[in-house]
Amino acid sequence: MKIVIIGAGVAGLGIGWRLLQQGASVTILERAQAGSGASWAAAGMLAVTAELEDAAEPERALALRASALWPGFAAELEEASGRAVFLNRDGALLLAGGEAHLSVMRARAEGELRLVDAAGAKALVPLLGDTLGGLWSPREAHVDNRALGEALTIAFLKAGGLLYPNEAAVKIEGRSVLTPYGRYDGDAVLVAAGAWSGLLENIPIVPVKGEVIALAPPVGAALPGPVVWGEHVYCVPRHGRLLVGATMEEAGFDTSVTPSGHDQLRASAEKLMPSLKGWALADHWAGLRPKSPDGLPLLGETATPGLFVAGGQYRNGILFTPAIAAEMADVILGKAPVIPAFDPRRFLGDLHE
Ligand code: GLY
Repeated sequence: MKIVIIGAGVAGLGIGWRLLQQGASVTILERAQAGSGASWAAAGMLAVTAELEDAAEPERALALRASALWPGFAAELEEASGRAVFLNRDGALLLAGGEAHLSVMRARAEGELRLVDAAGAKALVPLLGDTLGGLWSPREAHVDNRALGEALTIAFLKAGGLLYPNEAAVKIEGRSVLTPYGRYDGDAVLVAAGAWSGLLENIPIVPVKGEVIALAPPVGAALPGPVVWGEHVYCVPRHGRLLVGATMEEAGFDTSVTPSGHDQLRASAEKLMPSLKGWALADHWAGLRPKSPDGLPLLGETATPGLFVAGGQYRNGILFTPAIAAEMADVILGKAPVIPAFDPRRFLGDLHE
């Protein structure tokens, strides 16, 4: 079976890799560079606890399946690519924003999810200022998403996939994709183009911009060990810097960085950890999350036979990667049904209309 995939983010690459492993031939067309969109801009959190507080059950289940797959997926990918992806399972501390939030956290605390008071929180993260405490999720993880994109690219190519960077799809005709340079015929076409998925077909996905800053500690200052969450901010230690994210804004395809984005993120992080005031700004970037109208992913065949979509991962694209790779490969090969809550046809009768 020949599959043409539009988009070399972690979703397209992951699904492509799994398809190749099952004997399909796979070509990926990428408008820019592999792994350069939201896959690059993300903070790489596998935030099953922090991101899914209000999630619908099918999304929570997808997140838990993905989370369970991550250790094996990372090991297999590192072996296949020869590249590390830096899976870190040092946990996450979710700080309460007030008494009401603390009560919600108290109700969530069970099993390994533990409520901690101010002293317990400061024992976990000595940089914290005044705090009410919060929820400690000891196995919450994160991964170097940029390394992940590179590792998936290498694994995909080593497994025999074809990848054409700087080659944007301009039209889908039946089971063929047209670019400025050629026509790619397949038995199936998969749109996995992140926030750009809606430009090509009538796929209801919009970009939600997120700015992230990276702070460098002064000499002698230690990074927090775990990920630290405030109500509208997260702080992720990564390779000697602290990533602080992220703004949320529907601003089309604008990925510029702004002084107000920086100020908002820095102020939120400093409110949690006052000594960050002395930390230098090391980097500042923005990316586009792909969001569907109900905030849930679109995973499956559209109403046009042979045209599939894997999109709408919104805030959890890195977390979902191993589950979407395995499950979408099976859906495309006709080995697994579409999960109804994620069926792309829930929005439109025919995505070509
Ligand atoms: N999951 C982090 C973000 O979307 O900002």
